Amino acid sequence: MQNLFFEKHDLVELANKYKTPLFVFSEDRLRQNIQAIKKGFEVSGIAYEINFAAKSFITQAMCKIAESEGICLDVASGGELYTALTAGVNPKILSLHGNNKSISELTMAIENHVGYIMVDSENELDRLNHLTQAFRQEVSVIFRIAPGVEAHTHELIQTGKQDTKFGLPLKTAKAVIAKTKAMPYINVEGIHCHIGSQIVDEDPFIKAAEKMLRLYKELLEDGFKLTRLNLGGGFGIAYLPEDEAFDVSHYIPKMVDGLKALAKTLDMALPIIMVEPGRYISATAGITLYTVGTIKEIPGIRTYISVDGGMADNPRPALYDAKYNARICNRPLTKENGKSVRVSGKACETDQLIDHIVLADPRIGDILVVEHTGAYGYTMSSNYNRLPRPAVVLLNDTKDEVIVERETYADLIKNDRIPTWLKERNV
Ligand code: LLP
Repeated sequence: MQNLFFEKHDLVELANKYKTPLFVFSEDRLRQNIQAIKKGFEVSGIAYEINFAAKSFITQAMCKIAESEGICLDVASGGELYTALTAGVNPKILSLHGNNKSISELTMAIENHVGYIMVDSENELDRLNHLTQAFRQEVSVIFRIAPGVEAHTHELIQTGKQDTKFGLPLKTAKAVIAKTKAMPYINVEGIHCHIGSQIVDEDPFIKAAEKMLRLYKELLEDGFKLTRLNLGGGFGIAYLPEDEAFDVSHYIPKMVDGLKALAKTLDMALPIIMVEPGRYISATAGITLYTVGTIKEIPGIRTYISVDGGMADNPRPALYDAKYNARICNRPLTKENGKSVRVSGKACETDQLIDHIVLADPRIGDILVVEHTGAYGYTMSSNYNRLPRPAVVLLNDTKDEVIVERETYADLIKNDRIPTWLKERNV
């Protein structure tokens, strides 16, 4: 009987070797996903830059893979910046995002000479002006704009509307950007928008891109020597076999053609187009392996199967009602053995990974794979119930190696401190 494979690796063997729950990533798929986006631009023949949104999946190894593919990294905090810097990537490929960057995060970015600071607000611009004067160091900035475009996706991951904490409102953007004329160390390189995540429909992207190009043109007319238009990330993936996927090979050339035509009408050259995909690169490259531990049949209602992870390693079902596909790795699904079940996690609350799915007669000790968990799973994992975070394993053609160690119980208490008065009382 054949076990399920991920690339050339037997999933049951991986589960036995590294224990579960376990995140497994395929280096080839990460690279293929990056190359698919590159290809979309290559056929359009324009200058472009891909910034991988590290928040979807960041480890030092991932930073190395991105750099070796010749793409850049969008980091969204001091911690992500630190991870990329300690991985040893060239700081010039980094751009720092965030709607409330701290002074120390901005300082870290300046001191390490990152490629771009993505300015999110007028307050931040003023802070940056102050800091760059103190450092007497120039920085390249790109302004995040809220273009007022609604994307059709889960409400919690829509970010391009007018009513958002992110970016400068379209109406006031020009006035804020104009302030940089009196800021000696701020070089304005471009503008940015990111309208949301897990978007499968092209229209809102195209609408936002066109609005942004018009603003870009107005800024050129105001005398700014811009070079870059960053259109953010958000390309959706098919989580379930029946889902519609976002087709970058169709969208990118279509978006570029639209921008080229508009640029012609506006009588301007097309800027360097940047994109910031996260999910599209990491989601399908990662899976999670679990062991089935408890099976509860409620006659006339349903069967629950509980696995050894859940919302602590994947909060997406709880947060966004996200749907996933799963399979038993050690038993193929046949016409005879299909059983409809609910897959639950082990956290002490509802913790439902999959509401209902047909699995191959699940039994205690089976290895369950949940597919396409590579984006926003590991990076959003928590220690809820003091569950140690799973290990992350990277596969290449022939090898498998840990890129993030499994947390231990000792890791869980390493920052705990018992105050002196409690210690004394126990003596
Ligand atoms: N650029 C910026 C400025 C972003 O805020 C994001 C994601 C991206 C790029 C990448 O978006 P992507 O290509 O991955 O859709 N935790 C949620 C997703 C939050 C997205 C946050 N920003 C989830 O699990 O669905």
